[in-house]
Amino acid sequence: MTSALAADLTAAGYTVEGVDALWGTEAAAALHRGTRVAALRALAARPTTPLSTVATLFVLGLPVSRADADRGFPTTGVDTLVSAGVLRTDADRVAPALDLRPYAFVDDLGAGSWWIASDLGELALGHAISEEHVLGIGGATTTLSGLQLPVPVRRVLDLGTGCGVQAMHARRFADEVVATDISSRALAIARFNALLNGVDGIDFRLGSLFEPVAGGAVRPDRLEPAVRHHAPPRGRPRLRVPRRRDGR
Ligand SMILES: C[S@@+](CC[C@H](N)C(=O)[O-])C[C@H]1O[C@@H](n2cnc3c(N)ncnc32)[C@H](O)[C@@H]1O
Repeated sequence: MTSALAADLTAAGYTVEGVDALWGTEAAAALHRGTRVAALRALAARPTTPLSTVATLFVLGLPVSRADADRGFPTTGVDTLVSAGVLRTDADRVAPALDLRPYAFVDDLGAGSWWIASDLGELALGHAISEEHVLGIGGATTTLSGLQLPVPVRRVLDLGTGCGVQAMHARRFADEVVATDISSRALAIARFNALLNGVDGIDFRLGSLFEPVAGGAVRPDRLEPAVRHHAPPRGRPRLRVPRRRDGR
C-alpha cells in the first residue's frame, strides 16, 4: 500500500514546491497564519487535478468528491486507503483520516524530501486534539533535526519518536536506528512514514524512556550525544514544510 501511495503522491507532484505553486505564495502565507480562505479561492479558480485533490485532503484537511479521490489515487485506490486509516468516507465524500504533507530538507548529505503523516490538527477535526494526538512537524521538530550530528555512527536511539521524522533523519548517517515511543499510535504512524518514504533500518519499539532498549539497562550517562550543543550554521533555510493551520 505505501509504495502505491508514494507512486500516487509522486505522480500528483505532491511536493513542497508543488503545493506552494498550486495556490500561490499569498495563500501559502495565509495558511501559515491559520486561514485557508485564500487557498480555497485559488483552488476554485483552476481545474481540479490530482495535486489539488491531494492537497485539499491532506493540507487543508477538507473532504473531496469520491470521483476526485478516485482520480487522485489511481494506483492505491480509495478503498485501500480507507482500510489503512489514511482516508475515511463521509457520506458521498472522501475525507482525510491523517494529516500527510510534503517535507523538504537539506543536510550534509544533500537535499531530500519526504511525506510525513501525523494526526489531523484542530481545524480539520473541528474540535480539540486528543491526548493520543501524534504531532506532525513543528518548529521544535525542525530545530532538533537541524541539531543532529551528521557523522557516520553505528546506532542511534530516538527516544519519543512521535511521527518518526528524527529517526528518519538519523538513519541518513546511522547504520541502524532504534525509535521508541510510549504511544503505540505514534509508533504506527512513524512506521507508516518510514515505509512510505522507503527508509529502512529503523527498529520501532514500544515503551517508556529506556525500557525498550536493553531492558532498561542502558546507562544514559554512557550515551554519545547525537545532537549538537550549538546552533546550526545560519544561512539558507534547511527545512521546509507547508505549515499546519494550527500554527505548528
Ligand atoms: C513532542 S513529541 C516529539 C516527537 C519527535 N521526537 C519530534 O521531534 O517531532 C514527544 C513524543 O514523546 C513521546 N513520549 C512521551 N513520554 C514518553 C516516555 N516516557 N517514553 C517514550 N516516549 C515518550 C510522546 O508519545 C510523543 O510521541
